[in-house]
Amino acid sequence: MNTNYIGKGTSRVDGREKVTGQAKYAAEFTAEGMTHAFVVSSRIAKGKIKSIDASAALELEGVLDVFTHKNRPKLAWYDKSYQDEDSPPGSPFRPLYDSEIQFSMQPIALVVAETFELARYGASLVQVEYEEESHTTNLKANREKAYNPKKYKSGEPPKSRGNMEEAFAGAAAKVDQEYFHTSEHHNPMEMHASTVVWEDDGTMTIYDKTQSVKNSQNYIKKIFDLSTKDARVISPFVGGAFGSGLRPQYQLFLAVMAALALERSVKLVLTRQQMFSFGHRPATIQHLQLGASKDGNLLAAKHEAFAETSRFEDYAENVVVWQNTLYKCDNVAFDYKLVGLDVYTPLDMRAPGGVTGMYALESAMDELAVAAGIDPVELRLKNYTEKDQNEDAPFTSKELKECYRQAAEKFGWEKRNPEPRSMRDGHKLVGWGMASAAWEATQQEASAKAQLTADGKLIVSSATADIGTGTYTVMTQLAAETLGLPLEDVTFKLGDSTLPYAPLEGGSWTVSSVGSAVKKVCDAIGERLLKFSRKLPGSPFALAGLEEVKFENGMMKLKSDPSKGFYIKDIMQQRELDVIEEEVTSKPASEQKNYAPYAHAAVFVEVKVDEDFGTITVSRVVSGVAAGRVINTKTSRSQILGGIVWGIGMALEEESFMDNTFGRFMNHNLAEYHVPVNADVHDIEVIFVEEHDEIVNPIGAKGLGEIGIVGVAAAIANAVYHATGKRVRDLPITLDKVM
Ligand code: MOS
Repeated sequence: MNTNYIGKGTSRVDGREKVTGQAKYAAEFTAEGMTHAFVVSSRIAKGKIKSIDASAALELEGVLDVFTHKNRPKLAWYDKSYQDEDSPPGSPFRPLYDSEIQFSMQPIALVVAETFELARYGASLVQVEYEEESHTTNLKANREKAYNPKKYKSGEPPKSRGNMEEAFAGAAAKVDQEYFHTSEHHNPMEMHASTVVWEDDGTMTIYDKTQSVKNSQNYIKKIFDLSTKDARVISPFVGGAFGSGLRPQYQLFLAVMAALALERSVKLVLTRQQMFSFGHRPATIQHLQLGASKDGNLLAAKHEAFAETSRFEDYAENVVVWQNTLYKCDNVAFDYKLVGLDVYTPLDMRAPGGVTGMYALESAMDELAVAAGIDPVELRLKNYTEKDQNEDAPFTSKELKECYRQAAEKFGWEKRNPEPRSMRDGHKLVGWGMASAAWEATQQEASAKAQLTADGKLIVSSATADIGTGTYTVMTQLAAETLGLPLEDVTFKLGDSTLPYAPLEGGSWTVSSVGSAVKKVCDAIGERLLKFSRKLPGSPFALAGLEEVKFENGMMKLKSDPSKGFYIKDIMQQRELDVIEEEVTSKPASEQKNYAPYAHAAVFVEVKVDEDFGTITVSRVVSGVAAGRVINTKTSRSQILGGIVWGIGMALEEESFMDNTFGRFMNHNLAEYHVPVNADVHDIEVIFVEEHDEIVNPIGAKGLGEIGIVGVAAAIANAVYHATGKRVRDLPITLDKVM
């Protein structure tokens, strides 16, 4: 037995359940007497419902009710809306509030029936008359209406320093360009769903697709004026989310509303089309001005962004903060503005803001390298910053230089001919590009509970989520290693609102936050074991403190003499203990405030572009990642791979087509909304650069959920330029833009 698990490539502890179909997702739970609901979506983007007639649906046998703004329950929330844990400033959307239409595909009625087919058919019979008003959905055309929000949840532009205009005017090498990417939608395998089970005692068990059962529960409690006991939220598995499950979505509200009104169990699953109706990565225009001296020292930098938001909330992202994190510069200016459109509020999508900001910044840096005649890596090294200029703070750690070095070496960057169109593979133009990446590595408050039983089995729990990232596995590893127990004797539970508090499963902070709580609670159990063992006959621990013992291979041992110790099971049995239980809360240490916590990466890409057709293949990617301690080399690598694949999608494929005539996203299906498939993905190599970080959090791991996607789109765009000599500043880079 070897109970050292941290840093090893452990397979997912929930892998078997997942691949054998035993892992249940929100829509797969059921109960006796389950009813099914179907949403009627608005045809128009703006205006009023003049009349809504559900009589034909209600005449069907088996249709139980049709809820609209006319007959929905009266709730105090409708007059004083409640913000959830992830709401941006503003007034959250309230389904069925009144006759007003604020965005296309707004839910305007809910049909509840004995079967799904009946509910769907009933929904097709609901007659709606609209009074259309003219809508505005075009970001580019409405840029002059941009405003700085009064309140920011994030996205507040950093303060300008020095004199950017003057320094830019005097610069020898310059870039002054705009970059654009369209709206993109989440397309997880699992559609958003809520299954509300109406229990005999009038309480509800709600199976919800969410990145936070606590957030969903608090939302339901506030809206429907319920107590914690009235609504338990459970979410053991999530079939992909990466931001779409951070906020409670409207299906949760509607399903609970119907269950309470009918006192029945209700299941509501959104359709793939409806997955395009509750938020997206916002289309963003970015203007970059970079000025450097002849030898490539950055003298001036300006980054301004214009992003879309809804009319009812100011959703903002950290788009313009990255220059300060990556490159030293004394004359800088930043601005971030929003344009209100008749769309649903945008929402977080893997590395929100970071992907956007670094797409433009790292494209502009590539253009600056060309303008100054300097190698792109050298330009970045020349302007490397050891301080985060946003907060004027040192980094908790930053091994980005090693990322550049190791990834460049692996890629073979030194063989690059900087001349565009200079490299070929038969009929294909070959291009090499690179980009830097950074992402926040914060720690949030989190709690965890642990129970050690007489048989030596440990259960650790916290109300976090596993959106596919590997939370079950890494928490099990952390707990097992801390108490020296075999992996199979440790169970980690999550996704249940009765468990101790965990923050939203997002921001790449789950390992750092929940992991720290898991370690702390296991240490607390260890402390208890030590106390119990002191009084055992012949105890070598009579005078030992916790720092003098280690837990390994099922035993508690003296560090100074590992031959002395007790089996944990023996301590439990000899002291006649059935169970030891502890619950803790872990908070970030106050010294963290003096440092800037970021994970970093350098990504190198090779593309092959067909000279006649303009089709682009990403033939090779090497990503060097520095993110502190790697808890699980296997699941960590998978996170980076997944991020890179999504980056390929962003660069070349993903695009939500807004038809401004109808104010509607038209390609709301997986046939027309393109994401990378296996044929689009070739060689990807991930390097984890060694990085020791004692400050960032107690376990020294920075989180890997998001850093992998950052920078990928820029590296691909830069490689396309190198291959073709054509600079496309508009994502996705489809073949029509390359030809
Ligand atoms: Mo992430 S976009 O915080 O799920």
